[in-house]
Amino acid sequence: MTRTPVNVTVTGAAGQIGYALLFRIASGQLLGADVPVRLRLLEIPQAVKAAEGTAMELDDCAFPLLSGIDITDDAKTAFDGVNVALLVGARPRTKGMERGDLLQANGGIFKPQGEAINAGAADDVRVLVVGNPANTNALIAQQHAPDVPAGRFTAMTRLDHNRALSQLAKKLGVSVTDIKKLTIWGNHSATQYPDLFHAEVNGQNAAQAVNDQKWLEDDFIPTVAKRGAAIIEARGASSAASAANAAIDHIHDWVNGTAEGDWVSMAIPSDGSYGVPEGIISSFPVTVTDGEYEIVQGLEIDEFSRARIDASVAELVEERDAVKALGLI
Ligand code: NAD
Ligand code: LMR
Repeated sequence: MTRTPVNVTVTGAAGQIGYALLFRIASGQLLGADVPVRLRLLEIPQAVKAAEGTAMELDDCAFPLLSGIDITDDAKTAFDGVNVALLVGARPRTKGMERGDLLQANGGIFKPQGEAINAGAADDVRVLVVGNPANTNALIAQQHAPDVPAGRFTAMTRLDHNRALSQLAKKLGVSVTDIKKLTIWGNHSATQYPDLFHAEVNGQNAAQAVNDQKWLEDDFIPTVAKRGAAIIEARGASSAASAANAAIDHIHDWVNGTAEGDWVSMAIPSDGSYGVPEGIISSFPVTVTDGEYEIVQGLEIDEFSRARIDASVAELVEERDAVKALGLI
């Protein structure tokens, strides 16, 4: 039986993450090797031609699962019937731009996109916001989509999660597959908290396996939290292929489920768990079953972790209050 294609919309499709993402979606890595996809590419008018070039290349791959590509600069068209929305396009901070200017500029993008998702998305829509500031952009979009269940709006901390896995695996000389239950808490920013106290390495507590508080505090946490800036410094451009890879992981696991005995990190609307104010889009440890995620409950949070989670959540509250003050939500 031929399956109905899943509508996947990618915004900022002509950008560098878009270029690293689209071919992997079309090849089946996002949803599965037996799931046909129809791509919708949303770009600003000046970048539509470049998106058309990428679409030509997608055609030239003759991907068996790719049932069609539409390119548009109109959000309503892009999100009509969308099942999976990857909101990648955002306004980067440029020289002389204040934080308020950045939030305002992104509000101008994510408000109409939220409205368009509200107007036309499929009932099962899942939204992942990648464009920075990702957590707050996700909140803006969500607030303008009142008919979509709030929990369908998520932001990406999977790149941070994957970065933390690699750093820990290197430190301990193990494979990333030996590590389970790692968590990123909070914001996708330098305040995020990568937590090893609940992680396990071959069944042993990861913080105990490391047994080096100085490395954990002075090396591991800042390396993971500031990795985005380090990549920009080294490449002269922000992470692209690794960000696309994390977006694939995020949606893949949200749709297909997490592995038994493990969890992943997703920024999702808080239900108040772990003292994170309700409604804030903050990163938590989550498991996914039958396409629904759930926050892992019952973890003991010691003073060290509490202070770091609180600091990152305080930043998210500040961002929420700033966009509220700007009238964006
Ligand atoms: P890029 O500048 O290469 O591409 C962005 C694209 O978005 C451009 O083609 C631009 O034309 C398009 N765009 C801008 N406004 C748009 C709109 N209103 N509608 C549709 N498209 C629009 O940037 P990139 O390297 O692809 O990064 C994209 C975003 O992802 C940035 O905000 C970046 O900071 C962020 N990012 C997030 C993570 C994460 O882990 N959450 C990681 C890496 C990058
Ligand atoms: C990253 O974590 O690599 C990006 O969010 C950095 C950035 O500012 O684009």
